[in-house]
Amino acid sequence: MTHAIESEGLAKRFGETVALAGVDLHVPTGSVLGLLGPNGAGKTTAVRIFATLLLPDAGRAQVGGFDVVADAHRVRSIIGLTGQYASVDEKLTGWENLVLLGRLLDLPRAEARCRARDLLAQFQLEEASGRAVATYSGGMRRRLDLAASLVGRPPILFLDEPTTGLDPRGRLELWALIRQLVSEGTTVLLTTQYLDEADQLADSIAVIDEGRLIARGSPEELKARLGAQSLLVRPARSEDIGATLSILKEVTGAEPQAEDSTVTAAVSDPGLLTAAVCRLEEAGITIAELELRRPTLDEVFLALTSRVPERTPGDHEEEGCP
Ligand SMILES: Nc1ncnc2c1ncn2[C@@H]1O[C@H](COP(=O)(O)OP(=O)(O)OP(=O)(O)O)[C@@H](O)[C@H]1O
Ligand SMILES: [Mg+2]
Repeated sequence: MTHAIESEGLAKRFGETVALAGVDLHVPTGSVLGLLGPNGAGKTTAVRIFATLLLPDAGRAQVGGFDVVADAHRVRSIIGLTGQYASVDEKLTGWENLVLLGRLLDLPRAEARCRARDLLAQFQLEEASGRAVATYSGGMRRRLDLAASLVGRPPILFLDEPTTGLDPRGRLELWALIRQLVSEGTTVLLTTQYLDEADQLADSIAVIDEGRLIARGSPEELKARLGAQSLLVRPARSEDIGATLSILKEVTGAEPQAEDSTVTAAVSDPGLLTAAVCRLEEAGITIAELELRRPTLDEVFLALTSRVPERTPGDHEEEGCP
């Protein structure tokens, strides 16, 4: 079997709302697919169908070669799911949660305890293992949630926005854990609104918007699709931003944007960099920072959907929209 997860024409409505309008996805075994999209794009709906928590209206979906409707029971035996909202029991301790899950998965008592101990160690939760989850920080909860989805050693993992609400360090820690799982052969479907997260973790990315697939490819392919590079100029004096905007507009023919005292313009020809520098120098503008770079996924998203992805409250500054 080459695809651990696949769907064809997957569709789902909730009353008048079309959550999925015929989505085809293919995730090769042992790889990571980043399913990217703004709020309400249909990411969680797709994950819930793959995880047999929701029936599709049309289309088909297979996980590990099993149909999610006809063979739901077998699908459940080979997947782990970390939901968008923590699924562990707050009143129980971390240890109790994991042992309980092991018992629910029919592990013998000794094995359930052994598995819980191993996972708590792997996720650096040993010290907190005896405390009620209600006392855990957001990052600890997320780690426990991921650990909980791994109790049954699933070869296929669905992670629905696993790092939402985490601080940068918490995200890095969780990324490392996910990478480790992938290096051990786990297939992962990861949903995220963080474009840099998909860039960091995914072998391929599918972008959905309003229930439709609008782009698919490797992070590099998606960036290349814009066919342009971005030229960034930060003038040393903030009063030069207006003049920098006009010069970059004139040189690139694009509509430059100013943000955080930096002016950014899409350029189709890298040779325009020299022209821009000459014109800025002629105008007496001192350049504090200059960069020609490939577009970020944020910019790709903007180009694909003509809008900036919505952000959930609590997002961090460095994930700001273009
Ligand atoms: N149980 C439900 N009943 C009614 N509408 C729903 C239900 N679940 C999802 N929807 C709607 O379906 C659409 C897709 O929702 P979904 O949760 O799949 O989006 P999402 O991409 O996961 O968004 P987010 O980034 O906010 O988590 C939204 O318009 C949502 O309001
Ligand atoms: Mg969601």
